Amino acid sequence: MSVLRVGVIGYGYWGPNVVRNLYSLAACEVAALCDQNPAALQRAHRTYPSLHTTTDACELLTSPDIDAVAIVTPVWTHYELARTALENGKHVFVEKSFTATAHQAEALVELADRRNLRIMVDHTFLYTGAVKKIRELIDNGVLGPLYYFDSSRVNLGLFQHDVSVLWDLAPHDLSIMDHVIGERAEAVVATGASHVNDHADMAFITVYFPGNVVAHINVNWLSPVKVRMTLIGGRAKMLVWNDLEADEKIKVYDRGVNVTSRQGVYDLLVSYRSGDVWAPRVDQTEALKAELAYFLDCIATGATPVNDGQAGLRVVRMLEAADRSMAERGSVVRLS
Ligand SMILES: NC(=O)c1ccc[n+]([C@@H]2O[C@H](COP(=O)([O-])OP(=O)(O)OC[C@H]3O[C@@H](n4cnc5c(N)ncnc54)[C@H](O)[C@@H]3O)[C@@H](O)[C@H]2O)c1
Repeated sequence: MSVLRVGVIGYGYWGPNVVRNLYSLAACEVAALCDQNPAALQRAHRTYPSLHTTTDACELLTSPDIDAVAIVTPVWTHYELARTALENGKHVFVEKSFTATAHQAEALVELADRRNLRIMVDHTFLYTGAVKKIRELIDNGVLGPLYYFDSSRVNLGLFQHDVSVLWDLAPHDLSIMDHVIGERAEAVVATGASHVNDHADMAFITVYFPGNVVAHINVNWLSPVKVRMTLIGGRAKMLVWNDLEADEKIKVYDRGVNVTSRQGVYDLLVSYRSGDVWAPRVDQTEALKAELAYFLDCIATGATPVNDGQAGLRVVRMLEAADRSMAERGSVVRLS
C-alpha cells in the first residue's frame, strides 16, 4: 500500500494530538504542518525538527505533494479550509463541529461526492473502547429495545471565546447518541443560558427518536465537579458508562420493570427485576489513533467512513435546531 501524504492545519490545543498519532501510523507521512501562529510552529519544531512548516494554509491546500489534510482549527474556519482542500482534490479529516452551519456542511458533502473524495469528521469518541462496546451490546440485542439515552458532560470551564458550550461539548454526545441509537432523530428541544459571556454556558438538550426513544444531554461549563456519565436504558438491560473510571468504565445492569399484563399497570402490580451487574472488558487503544488509521484505510479502499460528512451534517443540524429551540425557550424544532 502506498504511503499517503497528509498535511495538518492547526497546532493549538488539539492539533498536537492529531500530528502525534499520524506520526505513529506507517500508512502515512506527515508532509507539512500549517499554523498561522509562528509560536505554534516553533513548538512543533522542537518535537519534529524535520517537519516542513508554514503559516500559509494555501501552500498546503494547493500542494500537489499532499493527498489529504487534517483541519484542526476553530469551527468558523472549517468550511473555507475544507472547501479549498476538496477543490484541490484532497481528502479531508476535519474536527468537530464539522461546520458552523448545516448549509456549509451540505455544500461540502456535495463537493466531496462530486470529486469522489472522503470526508471524515473527528467524532473521536466513536473510536473509544467504551463506545465500541456500547454499540456492540446494542447491536447484539443485549439491552433489548431502547428506552432512553441520558448523558452528562459537565465541569468548570474551559470557556471558549468563539463557541457556546452547546457547540463545544454537545457534538461529542450528539455524535455518540447518533451512532449508538442508529435511528434518525426527529425533533430537538433545548433550554440553556449564558451567565458569563455572550455564549451559552449551560444547556439541556432533548432529542426525540422514532419508537418513543428519547435522549437527553446536559452540557455545562459552570459545574463545580466534573461528570462524564451516560445512562442507557433498554427493556432487557440498562447500562452506565462512567468515563472517569479508570477500569470498569461500563457496567451493565440486569435491572428493569416487568409488566406481565396491561391490567398489571392499572393495578400497580409491576415487578422490579434486580439481577446481576457486570463490567465488560473495554479496549484501551487511543481512540484518535484508531480513527486516523481508519481514515487512511477508507482513502486506500474507497470505503465511506462511519463518521463521514453526512454524520457531521446530522450533528450540525441538531446543534442548529438546539440553538433555535434555546432562543425560543424550549420550542420543539423538527428535523426534516
Ligand atoms: N475531537 C476532540 O476531542 C477535540 C478536542 C478539542 C478540540 N477539538 C476541535 O479541534 C478544533 C481546534 O480546537 P483547539 O482547541 O485546538 O483550538 P486552538 O485555538 O487551541 O487551536 C487552533 C489553532 O489553529 C490555528 N489557526 C486558526 N485558523 C487558522 C488558519 N486559517 N490557518 C492556519 N492556522 C489556523 C490557530 O493559530 C491555533 O493555533 C476545534 O474544531 C475543536 O472543536 C476537538
